[in-house]
Amino acid sequence: MSARVGIHDLAVATAAHVLDLGDLATAAGIDPAKYRVGLGQEQMSVPGPDEDVVTMAAAAAAPILARHGADGIRTLFFATESGIDQSKAAGVFVHRLLGLPASCRVVELKQACYSATAALQAAADMVARRPEDRVLVIASDIARYDLDSAAEATQGAGAVAMLVAADPAIAEVEAAAGVFTADVDDFWRPNDSATAVVDGKLSIGAYLDGMIGAWDDYRARGGVAIDAIDRFCHHQPFTKMAVKAHRRLGEHVGVDLGAESMAASTGYNRRIGNSYTASLYLALAALLDTDDDLAGRRVGMFSYGSGSVSELFTLVVAEGYRAHTRGAETEALLAARTPVDVARYRELHAAAASLGSHDDAEVAQESAGPFHFTGIAGRARQYRRA
Ligand code: HMG
Repeated sequence: MSARVGIHDLAVATAAHVLDLGDLATAAGIDPAKYRVGLGQEQMSVPGPDEDVVTMAAAAAAPILARHGADGIRTLFFATESGIDQSKAAGVFVHRLLGLPASCRVVELKQACYSATAALQAAADMVARRPEDRVLVIASDIARYDLDSAAEATQGAGAVAMLVAADPAIAEVEAAAGVFTADVDDFWRPNDSATAVVDGKLSIGAYLDGMIGAWDDYRARGGVAIDAIDRFCHHQPFTKMAVKAHRRLGEHVGVDLGAESMAASTGYNRRIGNSYTASLYLALAALLDTDDDLAGRRVGMFSYGSGSVSELFTLVVAEGYRAHTRGAETEALLAARTPVDVARYRELHAAAASLGSHDDAEVAQESAGPFHFTGIAGRARQYRRA
């Protein structure tokens, strides 16, 4: 890449409700410390009936359009693994809800939690070729596992929207990247299932193997040495996983990387839970919003999607980035979530799993967010802006 290309703006959205994991643990007869300390999770965001990946994605992207307008946005990449249709890209609904121009290509990308990184890289390459273009990349997901399963405490919901542009105000995406693919059945979601199937222990090993494979490829492709990377964001299915990854990478390169170089990245994921494609970029948002000494610093980004595809790449944070972050807005969103008890959470979980597409249905507005799923008409999902 010749010109500086990267993340010009970044904004976060999550679901309307929140469940305290202490309550979930107590209801299941589990020591709450297993979730708080063992997994590193405090809370999970829980979507209401009128929310899904489309409403969260639109809510994440709306503030970016309010700040920058839509001029030059000729591509919208929507990354998700909890898509709402087998054919139509969820981003097409978002395109209409946001009032984007018709002269825009919209595509959905899927590879478990990884695909937002593929979208970001494709966007950066597009802008490098046509620096006047800007690309909207949105990662939006709802992590749902079976009730009473070991994975239940690692559910969550969230979205991150990023505007990719030349001369970015937040961070440049550097050209070197390491990639690693291995066919492994650690986590997947069959077409007829509302919840993911997971082999938890296998998935942890596959994640760590993917990280080492991606790191080795990154170095072989001209990526910088470990001591030239100042901070790290690792994919966070639960924040303790990022701690394990950080330790493992340190062992692999023979350097104690220190917890402080990744600690700030866990702040949002601890409270939102797994948001699959959005998780790594929520980690980046937390880092940008809480570390005020990042200008000119290099951030290592490790992206993992079960199945599995891994990528390790780096960002360099722009001078003046603090003026463009949205920490206060994200804190307000988290604080505005309505607490639910375990009984209500279980009702919402069951309702989401049972919603089919065959019968027309009206869904009442329950969440206070700006976009709503309003039901099914003629088998098609309906949305509106509040
Ligand atoms: P589990 O097997 O019930 O938990 O579920 P555990 O027994 O392994 O305990 C977890 C940790 O808590 C352990 O710590 C325990 O020692 C500790 P560790 O040894 O790992 O450091 N612990 C306690 N700590 C304090 N006080 C206590 C206590 N009791 C235990 N009283 C598992 C854990 C992760 C397997 C489960 O939650 C799961 O299956 N989650 C979903 C899969 C997942 O998140 N995998 C991560 C890697 S794969 C990935 O990241 C991709 C993904 O995001 C999907 C995608 O790509 O699309 C999932």
